[in-house]
Amino acid sequence: MQSKIEIIKTEDGSHSLYIPDMKETYHSTHGALRESEYVFIQNGLDLIPTDNEINILEVGFGTGLNTFLTFLESEKRALKIYYQTIEPYPLEENIFLELNYPEMISPDKSSIFYDFHKASFGEIKEINQDFIFKKHLQKLENLEMKPAILDLVYFDAFAPSKQPELWELGNFEKIYGWMKNEGVIVSYCASGQFKRNLKAAGFFVETLPGPPGKKEMTRGRK
Ligand SMILES: C[S@@+](CC[C@H](N)C(=O)[O-])C[C@H]1O[C@@H](n2cnc3c(N)ncnc32)[C@H](O)[C@@H]1O
Repeated sequence: MQSKIEIIKTEDGSHSLYIPDMKETYHSTHGALRESEYVFIQNGLDLIPTDNEINILEVGFGTGLNTFLTFLESEKRALKIYYQTIEPYPLEENIFLELNYPEMISPDKSSIFYDFHKASFGEIKEINQDFIFKKHLQKLENLEMKPAILDLVYFDAFAPSKQPELWELGNFEKIYGWMKNEGVIVSYCASGQFKRNLKAAGFFVETLPGPPGKKEMTRGRK
């Protein structure tokens, strides 16, 4: 899919990627780092009870920014996390080595950022005793998972206008089945159709203020 990819700088100084053929970026151009911290960490991870291991699924590993931020949170707050992420189109090494996230966020943990990218697909990798990581070389549409295991889903696919098949009701019904009761799904997207699909799948849906430059974002709860 991603024939050509360009590294761009967003408004908070952090990098993102642009795919000219799709006319689509991996993050908000108003600040990739600010968007990921706000949408996925503050409005997602921060709501999950911490007494047990937190089981997370990310849809779209991409640059690894959400994974890296979640790992750093787990270190800071001593959270036990099992983090699964899916990515059918992994980035080439020459791209991920250029991303400025390690130097901007936590230079002393750069090697871990690269470990996420270099991890073999399908292998369960113990980053440390609290953070277990698994990448699936797969499309969401083909992913299978046991029922009622996930606490949190980061839904970070390309926009519905660019990849409509990822935002279809059937995917949210599947995800609903994989989630525990009280589980949370978060996305930067606030489209009406997305929210209607979440509701139809069974989620209780909230519209929240968006990250800088975006009016709204969405959170669903099982
Ligand atoms: C918005 S971008 C990624 C954002 C990523 N979380 C990050 O922080 O860089 C969407 C990602 O979804 C991936 N993707 C494309 N088709 C997919 C599919 N069918 N299932 C799962 N992921 C897909 C893309 O390759 C891309 O990496």
